[in-house]
This record gives sequence, structure tokens and C-alpha cells, in this order.
Amino acid sequence: MAFTFPTSTIPPLDQAPALRWGILATGWIASQFAESLHRHSGQIVAAVASRDADRAEQFARQHGIPAYYPSYEALVAASDIDVVYVAAPHSEHARLALLAIEAGKPVLVEKPFTTTADEARLVVEAARRNQVFAMEAMWTRYLPQSDVARQLLAAGALGGIQLVLADHGQLLPRDGRLFKPELGGGALLDLGIYPISFASAFLGAPRTVQVLGSMSDGVDAQCTITLGYGQAGVQAELSTSVLAKTPNRAAIAGTHGLLEFGSPFFAPTTLSYSDIGLESEPTSRPVDRDTPMHEALCYQAVALARYLDEGRSESPLHPLDEVIAIMQTVDDARHQLGYRLPWEQ
Ligand SMILES: NC(=O)c1ccc[n+]([C@@H]2O[C@H](COP(=O)([O-])OP(=O)(O)OC[C@H]3O[C@@H](n4cnc5c(N)ncnc54)[C@H](OP(=O)(O)O)[C@@H]3O)[C@@H](O)[C@H]2O)c1
Repeated sequence: MAFTFPTSTIPPLDQAPALRWGILATGWIASQFAESLHRHSGQIVAAVASRDADRAEQFARQHGIPAYYPSYEALVAASDIDVVYVAAPHSEHARLALLAIEAGKPVLVEKPFTTTADEARLVVEAARRNQVFAMEAMWTRYLPQSDVARQLLAAGALGGIQLVLADHGQLLPRDGRLFKPELGGGALLDLGIYPISFASAFLGAPRTVQVLGSMSDGVDAQCTITLGYGQAGVQAELSTSVLAKTPNRAAIAGTHGLLEFGSPFFAPTTLSYSDIGLESEPTSRPVDRDTPMHEALCYQAVALARYLDEGRSESPLHPLDEVIAIMQTVDDARHQLGYRLPWEQ
């Protein structure tokens, strides 16, 4: 019988309570996020904050945002903001997430959630203590392709998972934030987090972490990571690099079939399914090409709006304990490469 893909069960993007978002920082991802929310959802970008008043004003004007603040502290204190999005570099994530949580504001924190598992535990503990919603902006989890993949797995189309493959590599400038340890630079925290989170989504926390790689300019620059799960040889083979563009693909190999994610696997892409025959033709389907690349950042924001409406304290697709476990895997990999962040010394 011909294979057919299930359709995504994610409701339309305009069918969620419209939250008033406040954005902390005015960099590249903050801009992409604001545009994505405007173009594809009913979510409201109500305010932006910067460390610099002029930058806040300029960003607000550029993106048609009604309010701007000259400090992050001022924005999180604003009574007409429902939820805060942290879009600063990794090194600031824990501090700014805590700032929002202590102000009682639900918070969406850019990936990686924090720079270390210890920081992640601090933020999660504060969120639970204050009964405030917190979520990592691991946007891939909330895309329609991930929903389709979860359905295929639940229906047994792949059988038991034997191997997960994923890589994320880009050639990135030496003068950028990824080569600055003081901003949490390095391949693993910025790019490697995607393949590690992908493996976690389908296999959970690994029992063993083995890394082969190298440092450059004081940060981890490239590595392969083998994760072991202690059962029947199940493993994940992952890689990341800031020294070269790599295929940026992912695959889940099961005992009944193979599911492949086109490049880049972490953004809206094409899924291909094939059965176990070596010469089997794959069945392919693009999933949501209407919101290309970062225009799809809005899916995670709309999911968060639904979760708050449902009275949840964290994402059911990416629970906070899993976020901590992922940061632990990143810690392990980083430390095996001999890379310690300035605040870990
Ligand atoms: N989901 C994705 O696909 C994706 C893609 C790219 C980046 N990201 C994530 O988004 C975060 C920001 O990345 P980006 O590429 O947007 O960075 P960026 O362009 O360098 O912008 C970062 C912004 O953060 C603010 N900031 C606060 N403290 C800072 C500090 N100590 N040094 C520098 N800037 C500081 C600055 O804005 P103000 O001073 O005006 O407040 C700055 O414009 C990272 O954690 C990254 O992992 C996610």
C-alpha cells in the first residue's frame, strides 16, 4: 500500500489568544521574530527594550511597535506586557529569564535556554517557585514537520528507533559573537544545540556522550558527538561546526522505515519516508513552505499563547526537565573538548 503522510494537527496560526509581547534586545533574531509575528500570527508585538534608548526607538519605528524602553528592567515591569521574549546573546539568557520571572512575566528564552545546566536549573527552579511559565525558543519543535514526525512515530511507521542522525554547520565570521567566549560563543551552544535537541526529542536523555572535535580562537569550533542510550545499540550520530557549511540534514532510522528531514532540518522543510528496502523510492512531502525559514519563528509563540490559555506552566512538547538534560549533554560535550566558559572557571 502506498505510504501517505499524516497532515499536521497544529491549528491555524491566527487561532490562539493574542498576547502582548515584549522583546528584550534589538539584534538579528529579535527583528526576525517581530516580523514573523506580524506577518503570520495574531500575536501583538507591544514593546521592545534595548540597553540603549536610541536603538530601542529605532527598532520600534522600524517594526511598527507602539512602545519602547531604554532598559530591560523597565520593560519587564510594564503592566501591559503579557509575555517576554529574550533575544540577547546566550551569556545573558539566564539573567534576563530570571528578570522576567521575578517580575511575574511568562518568558520565551532564545536557544540555548542558558549556557550551562547549572544555569538552566536556576531558571527552572525560579519559574516553578514563582509559578511563572518558561520555555526555550527551540522553534523546530513547534513546526508542522515535527508534528507530522511525532504522529508517524506514534503510529509505529518507523518501528523502533535505532539511529538518529543530525548535523548543523555554518561557516561563521571570526569577529562575530560565536567566537567570543564572554558571550557564550562556540559551535555547540549555538548550532550543536539543534542536533542535540533533535536527538533528545526522539530518544530522550543519553546515557553516554562521546565527542571528537577541536577548538579555535578560544571556543569549540567543530565536533562529532555520539550519544548512547544503553539499549540494543541505539545511538545518535551528531555533528556541528562553525568552520564549514555542512548538509544540515537529519534522519530517524527505525526498524520499519527511515524518515529524512531536508536541509536545513530545523526550519520548515521536506520530509521523506522510505521503507526498509535498500532501493525503495522515498515518498516526499514539503511541510509548510508558506512560512520559509525564520518567518516560521511564530509557531513557537503561538504554541506558547495556547499553553498559557490552557493554564500550563511549561511546554508539553519540550518540558523544562528535558531542557536541563539537553544543557547537561552540551556541558558534557563542551567539557570533553576542554572548553569552559569564563563563568565556569
Ligand atoms: N532561533 C534561531 O534561528 C536563532 C537565530 C539566530 C540567533 N538566535 C539566538 O538569538 C540570540 C541572539 O542572537 P542574534 O544573532 O540576534 O545576536 P545579535 O544580532 O548580536 O543581537 C543580540 C542583541 O542582544 C543585545 N545584547 C544584550 N546584551 C548584550 C551583550 N552583552 N553583547 C551584545 N549584545 C547584547 C543587543 O541589543 P540591545 O543592546 O539593543 O538590547 C544585541 O543587539 C542568541 O542566543 C542566538 O542563539 C536564534
